[in-house]
Amino acid sequence: MTTSVIAPATHQPSTTAARKGAIDLRQVRKTYGDVVAVDQLDLSIQPGEFVTLLGPSGSGKTTTMMMVAGFEEHTSGSVMIDGVPVDSLPPRERNLGVVFQNYALFPHMSARENVEFALRMRKVPKAESRRRADDALDRVGLSGLGGRKPRQLSGGQQQRVALARALVFNPAALLLDEPMAALDKRLREHMQEEIKTLQKSLGISVLFVTHDQDEAMAMSDRIVVMKDGRIVQSGPPEEVYNHPVTDWVASFLGDTNLIPATVISRDGEEAVVDLAGLGTGRVRDRGAQGERYAVSIRPEHLKFRAGPDGENGGAGELTSSTNLGATIRHRITVGGHSLQLRELSSDAGASGHAVGSAVHVGWDADKAQLLVLEG
Ligand SMILES: Nc1ncnc2c1ncn2[C@@H]1O[C@H](COP(=O)(O)OP(=O)(O)OP(=O)(O)O)[C@@H](O)[C@H]1O
Ligand SMILES: [Mg+2]
Repeated sequence: MTTSVIAPATHQPSTTAARKGAIDLRQVRKTYGDVVAVDQLDLSIQPGEFVTLLGPSGSGKTTTMMMVAGFEEHTSGSVMIDGVPVDSLPPRERNLGVVFQNYALFPHMSARENVEFALRMRKVPKAESRRRADDALDRVGLSGLGGRKPRQLSGGQQQRVALARALVFNPAALLLDEPMAALDKRLREHMQEEIKTLQKSLGISVLFVTHDQDEAMAMSDRIVVMKDGRIVQSGPPEEVYNHPVTDWVASFLGDTNLIPATVISRDGEEAVVDLAGLGTGRVRDRGAQGERYAVSIRPEHLKFRAGPDGENGGAGELTSSTNLGATIRHRITVGGHSLQLRELSSDAGASGHAVGSAVHVGWDADKAQLLVLEG
């Protein structure tokens, strides 16, 4: 297990006035023949912000990142870094540190030489590039291992070398495309924390790409959910999780209960709906428009109740309980719907319902989200 911790910043975060790393994409589109990889993308990243592109395979995440980095040319639209259009600038003049989806280290070069390589390509004198490479390796907790070849390093250590290589130019922003895809779960979580710590101490912005929703939730200031080359929702993690705009977003970001709903009235942030079999109720409304609607209630927001309690719930039957360790997953048939209720194992003693017994369940109105049913 990795124990080293990324060194605290010897490089002070820049002052607000001097802060850099704003990235703007305006109506960016990329086609490969008939394939529209990215479509009319508008995205702004503030200096110091950690923004994650989250989406399934083929949704356009890597293509978006490559256009920011300058390794792919966009078909139309414009990319700006710190307010300056970079459309005609080659990658090396964009002042960005990049870790690719399959970060490839040169196998015949030591860790230090891998980091030094890019500096040498840019004609930085040998002594200076040595010093800067060692400095970057220090920052990612690899001091002393600079002489090793990639095969003599663990997966996590190799990943740090790739990170050091991206940091060695003191970039204004880091672009990280699934940098931890090759790591096991524990190492991955460890690296997630280290990258966050590093980002905060350097005060730089990060454009991060993943298709792992837990990773996106854990790391981001803002999650941008992509599907078919477009942004379907963008917001802070808890907002996207608790207030998904479509059933697709709700299901992509974890488990949820979807109850078909008929909208009776809408008023600002609230809607009154008829939930088939569960009566009328007030739910949260983000104003998304569509033909068919449902209400999403996360399994952890569905609760057992002591008895009938009017709105937002009903009586049903507990059909199964599965102990998952930290949590217990219950299935309850209520109003003709099979709903999932998740509670902490440590809370379960109090409820103690037997499978097959009659139960009452309900939810808080502000935890029920009106959304559009796609497709
Ligand atoms: N060079 C290319 N030529 C043709 N089509 C391409 C090319 N590169 C990407 N595409 C297509 O563009 C779309 C977006 O690809 P992209 O690599 O951006 O997806 P992604 O979101 O990064 O997926 P993953 O999670 O699998 O890495 C896909 O349909 C892909 O097949
Ligand atoms: Mg990709």
